[in-house]
Amino acid sequence: MADKKAYLKVDGIDETIELPVLHGTEGPDVVDVRALVSKGLFTYDPGFMSTAACDSAITYIDGGKGILLHGGYPIDQLAEKSDYMEVCYLLLNGELPNAEQKEKFVSTVKNHTMVHEQLSHFFNGFRRDAHPMAIMCGVVGALSAFYHDSLDIDNEHHREVCAYRLVAKIPTIAAMCYKYSLGQPFMFPRNDLSYAENFLYMMFGTPCEEYKPNPVLAKAMDKIFILHADHEQNASTSTVRLAGSSGANPFACIASGIAALWGPAHGGANEAVLNMLEEIGDADNIPEFIAKAKDPNDPFRLMGFGHRVYRNFDPRAKVMKVSCDEVLKELGLENDPLLKIAKQLEQIALEDEYFVERKLYPNVDFYSGIILKAIGIPTNMFTVIFALSRTIGWISHWNEFHSSPNKIGRPRQLYTGPTMRDYPG
Ligand code: SDX
Repeated sequence: MADKKAYLKVDGIDETIELPVLHGTEGPDVVDVRALVSKGLFTYDPGFMSTAACDSAITYIDGGKGILLHGGYPIDQLAEKSDYMEVCYLLLNGELPNAEQKEKFVSTVKNHTMVHEQLSHFFNGFRRDAHPMAIMCGVVGALSAFYHDSLDIDNEHHREVCAYRLVAKIPTIAAMCYKYSLGQPFMFPRNDLSYAENFLYMMFGTPCEEYKPNPVLAKAMDKIFILHADHEQNASTSTVRLAGSSGANPFACIASGIAALWGPAHGGANEAVLNMLEEIGDADNIPEFIAKAKDPNDPFRLMGFGHRVYRNFDPRAKVMKVSCDEVLKELGLENDPLLKIAKQLEQIALEDEYFVERKLYPNVDFYSGIILKAIGIPTNMFTVIFALSRTIGWISHWNEFHSSPNKIGRPRQLYTGPTMRDYPG
């Protein structure tokens, strides 16, 4: 909706360029710059610091106030009162399910958790010590070689079936990555367990004895899934939307999101946080690492700190910190040395002028790694858990993109290469 205008005066162009200013239901207004190309102009915004790439109704973030809403519901309320299956329904459909809708959704997901037996053969091509995110990229991408029964992306039912299959199968594939690294047999999913319990079962159960998921750990796992489910137009979600804009296979689009998430500046940060805490090793070494983080000539950054959007506490980090204390207490690990280093590091950083003036606060990744380690998940599986959780966000945005008329995404550039010249000779 445009009821305001922006006026652009450009040296060398006589006319004043009039641009519509659009507003949504929350957040900053946007200047609609689509007319600029007809005036021979592009906008320039590397890193998309000031660019709204699309309109979306799924998630809203107010970085200044530290607010995150899914379908209008604050993340702390969802983490406290909802569960991951309900949040998945909310992200896909825009409304919380009633009891009947939820029961049907949970039942449908449960009945899609197995993967095609042929898919398990893909694992054998990887070394046992392959990074599980490399395996996730490969095996989730391989899903695009299956399910040719529902790939008409313009068919709403086909898109819904893709979403169910991905939400259902991603924990199974994630657990298979872990089992493969151990040389242990893959565990089949069980329909008598909740989504989070089933994941813990497939991760830590063996055919040799009964495995009963700890309810406190299952609740913490479900909360971690909720906290990572979606986050507006972050790098991996934008990757999925851009891949989807070409009409690519949805499973291949999700694999592109997994690849983008893997980077340490994005979803790979939770693994990097644990590696950093282990490298710090002792609270006495914190000042040395704070100094490195502040040194403009040192590429080291404090992993788990800072965020492109949040210039306040990441609301997910607050919930994660409480859950971290609960899990470590349940496991008798209140005095976990890494947690102690993390808490001291947080305290020191939050008082340091460098971090204060740059509004660098702990983000979602700062505490998640400590919880995951306490649950017994190896560090190199942390980003796999993030990818598992975020799959619903990716497929919800992919679905939203294909639910209305759309165009292939095709950014332009500021060209700085050689001007035209003839081939020599
Ligand atoms: C996620 O986008 C999302 O929503 C992502 C995510 C999601 O749910 O999808 O929230 C998940 O990716 C969380 C972020 C996880 N990444 C990390 O924890 C890695 C450490 N953080 C940084 O790499 C960084 O803060 C980013 C990548 C998160 C944000 O980078 P920006 O927005 O590009 O900020 P910047 O690099 O321009 O930094 C501004 C200043 C710079 O200093 P100056 O040039 O002003 O002197 O702050 C400094 C940076 O050097 N800075 C840091 C820092 N983060 C930024 N200095 C030390 N340690 C850090 N962590």
